[in-house]
Amino acid sequence: MSTPAPTATPLRQDYAAYTPTDYRIWRTLTQRQLAALKSAACAEYLECLQQLYPILSADHPPRFSDLNRTLTEAHGWSIEVVKGFLPVDEFFDLLSKRRFCSSTWLRNENQLDYLEEPDMFHDIFGHIPLYLNKDYANFAQKLGALGVKHAANEEKITQLQRLYWFTIEFGVMRQDSEVKVYGAGICSSTSETKHIYSDNAVVIKPFDLDAIMQQDFVIDKVQMLYFAIRDFSELFAAVDELATRWNSAP
Ligand SMILES: [Fe+2]
Repeated sequence: MSTPAPTATPLRQDYAAYTPTDYRIWRTLTQRQLAALKSAACAEYLECLQQLYPILSADHPPRFSDLNRTLTEAHGWSIEVVKGFLPVDEFFDLLSKRRFCSSTWLRNENQLDYLEEPDMFHDIFGHIPLYLNKDYANFAQKLGALGVKHAANEEKITQLQRLYWFTIEFGVMRQDSEVKVYGAGICSSTSETKHIYSDNAVVIKPFDLDAIMQQDFVIDKVQMLYFAIRDFSELFAAVDELATRWNSAP
């Protein structure tokens, strides 16, 4: 009889390890981002944030077990604790299973405005709220599933990474003819939020699946190009169409 291979113990959030400094940094980041997003974020993001109150608030770092209860009840999502960036195939695999990756560490006081690697503020405050929105949550799951299905096709994976970048990370939306933000890279960054509205060189194009899949992106500078959706159903429809297109490809 063969012995089953040992499985790695899942990483967990050590909530008791957060220091008074972590609480202070969390509060500073959250308060200033709430102020910036009041007029900048799309209505759906703000509604989801409200639904997560007081689990997600300026008062304390978020407890993942509490977030998970609400996320799972809503659309079956939960948080997968990770140490840092995952290989793209693992990342898409988790998304396809309705699991979103998050770090548990928090930036220090000298990194309030810029980070090279995503911390818990980016992963949770930026990404998690919209998993309470059905269309957004289904879009992310389907994008992950396409990544799993086409894992061996480098070109398709690059196209999916671009789609992820210009939506989940840096997506914007036109709401009542105003540009509103929903991408986590914007929602978790005061400088990115301000930049969209203050830099005249910023280009905002209407969402276009084919254009996005051909568009390279930069990760080490502020974004100069954004794609604006009308609503989250447009995102789900796009990924649904892509699945049909790729399924029927020879
Ligand atoms: Fe992110």
